[in-house]
Parts: sequence; C-alpha cells; structure tokens
Amino acid sequence: MRLLITSDLHYNHPVSQPLAEELIERMNAAGGDVLLVIGDTAVADGDCWEQCLGRFRFDGPKLLVAGNHELWTNGNDSLAVLMNQLPRRAAALGWRWLADEPLVIGDVALVGSVGWYDYSFAQKELGIPRRFYENKISPGVAQRLEKFAHLLGEDVGERARRLYARWNDGVHVKLGMSDEKFLAALLGRLEEQLAGLARVPNVIAAVHCLPFAQLLPPSHNAQWDFAKAYLGSEKIGQLLLKYPNVKRVYCGHSHFPARARVGHLTAVSTGCGYRHKRFLQVEI
Ligand SMILES: [Fe+2]
Ligand SMILES: [Fe+2]
Repeated sequence: MRLLITSDLHYNHPVSQPLAEELIERMNAAGGDVLLVIGDTAVADGDCWEQCLGRFRFDGPKLLVAGNHELWTNGNDSLAVLMNQLPRRAAALGWRWLADEPLVIGDVALVGSVGWYDYSFAQKELGIPRRFYENKISPGVAQRLEKFAHLLGEDVGERARRLYARWNDGVHVKLGMSDEKFLAALLGRLEEQLAGLARVPNVIAAVHCLPFAQLLPPSHNAQWDFAKAYLGSEKIGQLLLKYPNVKRVYCGHSHFPARARVGHLTAVSTGCGYRHKRFLQVEI
C-alpha cells in the first residue's frame, strides 16, 4: 500500500496558495493508494478549504485531519466548527474525516486527531511563567498592551520582558475551555479508537501537532522558541507509546521536516510550510 501524505497547505495564505496548487498537481500525478492530509489545509471560514481539497484528483480513500488553522473563525465557536461543521463539509467533498472514522485496510489501520498543545514543549530557559502561555502572548506584549498588563509580576525577568511574541490561535481560536482540557478531550477520543483497533497489527497515527519534543525545530531565535510551547504535547506521544501496534505517527504543524525513533515508534513531521511544500510517499 502506497500512502501519500502532506499537511499545512495553508490555502487561504497568498504566498502559500500557488505553491499548494503546484504541490497538489504533483501529488495528483504521483498516484498512490491512500491520500492523507494532516491539517492546516485552510481556515474554515469562507470556501478556501473546499477550493483547496477540490483540486485533488485521487481514486483511493482521501483521509483528512484538521489542524489549528481550521479552528480559526470569525464566529465564536471553534469546537462546533471542528466537531460538526468540518466533518459534514469533508463528507460532501468525498473526504473521510479520520478523527470520526478510522480506516482499516487489511492489517493496516489509520487514525487521526488535531492533537493540540499544553505548553509541555515550552522552553524553560526563556523564563516565561505559564500564565503568559495561557494568554498566548509573551511578557514583552504585556508590557505594551494594557489588556495584558495584569500578567506582569516580579517573577518575570528582564530578558522575558524584552521578548515580543504572540501565538495567533489566541485571537482566532475560540474553544471555551483551556488548551489542556481540549487536548485531554481529543486524546480521550483517540484513545477510544486505539483501544478498538488493538487487534490490527499495524496502526498509523496522523496527528497535526507534534507528539514528541525530539521533532521540535532547532533553536532559531527567542520568538520561535516561544512558539514551541504551541507545537504539540508530550501527552500525545505518551498515549501512542501505550499501544505496541502503533508503529508510526505522521504530523505537520511545525513546518519543519524531522524524523525520530522513540521507543517502538517512528515519528515523522512532513516539513510542509507556507513557503516550502512537500509530500511524503510511504510504502506500508
Ligand atoms: Fe501550519
Ligand atoms: Fe498548525
């Protein structure tokens, strides 16, 4: 079975869109048995998402997982977008919503989840207290914006106060619960599915966010190091490692290509981003 995998097509982004179109053309020409797109296809508002997914020409099963960008909405309920709206829209386009319906073909199963983050990948040396990560802004932003000034305190050092960075999910994603709770709910669903697939010898997981710190990009600058808090969670990896039949996990989100062997698992991030598009061809 040949699997074609990509992620982070970011079709509503002006730089990313023509590159996504070119990549999809290449994937259409590559053939393959199963197609897997692991999130950040486009924001859910408008019809960019449909426009992007409609460009794929593929005969076999087309599997779809959401990313954090699918949850960006001008409305007030990202959860309704994820749980109700997007699965319906995917089905109308002929795509399978992997988080609701794992796929089993012979002795191989595929499962999927957004994954999410809980700041377990936050870089301790930045010296930023957790309350800033929860608000998705760095102390430098709190120094400049009155709205966040109450977060500052004596436990925030000079270096952290000079760091100006924000994670835009804080503006565009409306969950109505903490990131930690959202992650727990998503992993609970994934665990139910993994338990149901205990007899399938080979399970492949597709999770938008990173499951292991080993996949994090190298240190680039303090802004990027701040963003690492939002790239994934060690809880995703811990869950997958509980199941010996989960042999591989593919993810996106970091826009940085990486591969790691952790316990019995091979973990791969696609490395597809705004300016560099890639897809993987995997023989199972
Ligand atoms: Fe992305
Ligand atoms: Fe993402």
